Amino acid sequence: MDRAFDLLLPVPDDARARLYAAMRHATIGGGKRLRPLLVCAACDLFAVSRDAALRVATAIECIHVYSLIHDDLPAMDDDDLRRGKPTVHKAYDEATAILAGDALHALAFEILADAATHADPFVRAELCLELASASGPAGMAGGQMMDLVAGGTAMDLATVTRLQQLKTGALIGFCLEAGAIMGRVPQEGRTRLRGYARNVGLAFQIVDDLIDVEGSAEQAGKAVGKDAAAGKATFVSNLGVDRAREQARMLVDQAVEYLHEHGPEADLLREIARYIVNRDR
Ligand code: IPE
Ligand code: IPE
Ligand code: MG
Ligand code: MG
Ligand code: MG
Repeated sequence: MDRAFDLLLPVPDDARARLYAAMRHATIGGGKRLRPLLVCAACDLFAVSRDAALRVATAIECIHVYSLIHDDLPAMDDDDLRRGKPTVHKAYDEATAILAGDALHALAFEILADAATHADPFVRAELCLELASASGPAGMAGGQMMDLVAGGTAMDLATVTRLQQLKTGALIGFCLEAGAIMGRVPQEGRTRLRGYARNVGLAFQIVDDLIDVEGSAEQAGKAVGKDAAAGKATFVSNLGVDRAREQARMLVDQAVEYLHEHGPEADLLREIARYIVNRDR
């Protein structure tokens, strides 16, 4: 991913240099690259070439990083630390951070729509459609809105689940869906993979919320203790730490169960599911 972003974002010798530098700051060096790994693992299931997988992996990481840059802005979570470095609006300024997010958002679709991603224009169009719906008001952006409204109000578990499925689950869902799209798996054949994605996505956000309560900024590379301070409704605020962790473990067990028809080609997806509950960053 570092190499892909290095090639994608050469700093021009003109007044846009600051924008490119901010995009490089956000995309290069750091992050778990979980979404790119999920794309590659899903592509492995259907014998999709690694080159094609890496292009889609870069596109989803662009959207993810854009969402992080905007999530950290003073108007949203107001955070100073991300991936162990100053956030983009701290290292640069707010206007540059907004533009860096905008530019990464556009870049994601430019990568997907490029003929180099897949020879079949229908496959490219489906990738764009899926990423757009996972990112927009029925996906990540909608979930972020619910998350902001959640500050200071009580939400029941069903509402928190919906919030987290949109805010985090939708983009994770895209990673798996992309493998199926490129592998030309028909809609009916995607049900189990979607079950895996739904459970893993929810477990991932529950563990993010646990890290906010139990983790350290050194390990996580971002400030902790922010959700309780902002009065955010999470699984942890609803269930407490122990039951939230139990819930995450259960979801991951269910995710792995969805892969039972697959053999060793799904081992990476199984490993990723296990990693998601055991991680501390
Ligand atoms: C953090 O995502 C934001 C959430 C959706 C919870 P990650 O934990 O994947 O962040 P990076 O990419 O490793 O920095
Ligand atoms: C952010 O959720 C989710 C997105 C960026 C879409 P959080 O606000 O919990 O993420 P962190 O904890 O800042 O990484
Ligand atoms: Mg947030
Ligand atoms: Mg945040
Ligand atoms: Mg968080």
